[in-house]
Amino acid sequence: MPQLAVTPDAIHLWSCFCDEITDSGLLSKYNSLMEEHEKTRHQRFHFEKHQHQYLVTRALVRTVLSLYADIEPDQWRFTKNQYGRPEISPLVLGQKPYLNLRFNLSHADGLIICGVTTNREIGVDVENLTRSNDLLGIADRYFSSTEVKDLFSQPAYRQTQRFFDYWTLKESYIKARGMGLSLPLDQFSFHIQPDASTIISFDPRLKDNPAHWRFWQYKPSEDHQIALATQSASLTAQTPHIHSYRIIPLKSWSDFAMPEL
Ligand SMILES: CC(C)(COP(=O)(O)OP(=O)(O)OC[C@H]1O[C@@H](n2cnc3c(N)ncnc32)[C@H](O)[C@@H]1OP(=O)(O)O)[C@@H](O)C(=O)NCCC(=O)NCCS
Repeated sequence: MPQLAVTPDAIHLWSCFCDEITDSGLLSKYNSLMEEHEKTRHQRFHFEKHQHQYLVTRALVRTVLSLYADIEPDQWRFTKNQYGRPEISPLVLGQKPYLNLRFNLSHADGLIICGVTTNREIGVDVENLTRSNDLLGIADRYFSSTEVKDLFSQPAYRQTQRFFDYWTLKESYIKARGMGLSLPLDQFSFHIQPDASTIISFDPRLKDNPAHWRFWQYKPSEDHQIALATQSASLTAQTPHIHSYRIIPLKSWSDFAMPEL
């Protein structure tokens, strides 16, 4: 029997602090959950931390999905859309036509997240805030003109935080659309209100409607920031309720109270 159900008005957000997982017995169980092509890809990572992150991500998505369905973690099969977004394979759905789960994954140094819902688009993004690239240069190149203007008008001490607000929100939207960077990043803009609530606007070329979208931002740890995007099935649909969990795949999971930004 499935241990959990995600109702149509809910989204479940799973966090896995992957650096905590060092038990070699557990890691070898994760290895045995993977399909051959995943094992091959796992072996190809040059850096051990990327190999570890990949392994834990595979275990995370498989064990999380198994909480919602009577399917063993190693039995899940996935396909990818033309932009690389993993989805549950028709091979699995053919056997379980009632399954209407949607998920999306994101990983950053130290944290992997997985959003799960039903019948609606979902996109998640996590970033490690200690990344020290040329943040303003990246913003100048990729953000919309209103976002750049707002970012550069912030006092210096607030710019890093504002950069990651925009970055994670933009990623969550393109991931919910499932189209990756084929969606031009300057053709949609986030508008962060003084009360920190968020509105999106679209260039007419994107043919999208802001009223269909909801966004959330969380701070799961000192070093991480998360954005979550969902598309409502209809304009009158209720705002979904977010339930957050923390998990060590195949070991333990529990509720996780994450501060909202
Ligand atoms: C591939 C992309 C969808 C996300 O990449 P990312 O931010 O580097 O990585 P994340 O950890 O957040 O997400 C990776 C996961 O997203 C999922 N994913 C891959 N392609 C996806 C797509 N088209 N749509 C939704 N999810 C996708 C996969 O599950 C992937 O993990 P996996 O390979 O372990 O299964 C895409 O947005 C990208 O290349 N971004 C690069 C960063 C960038 O320039 N961002 C600009 C923001 S302003």
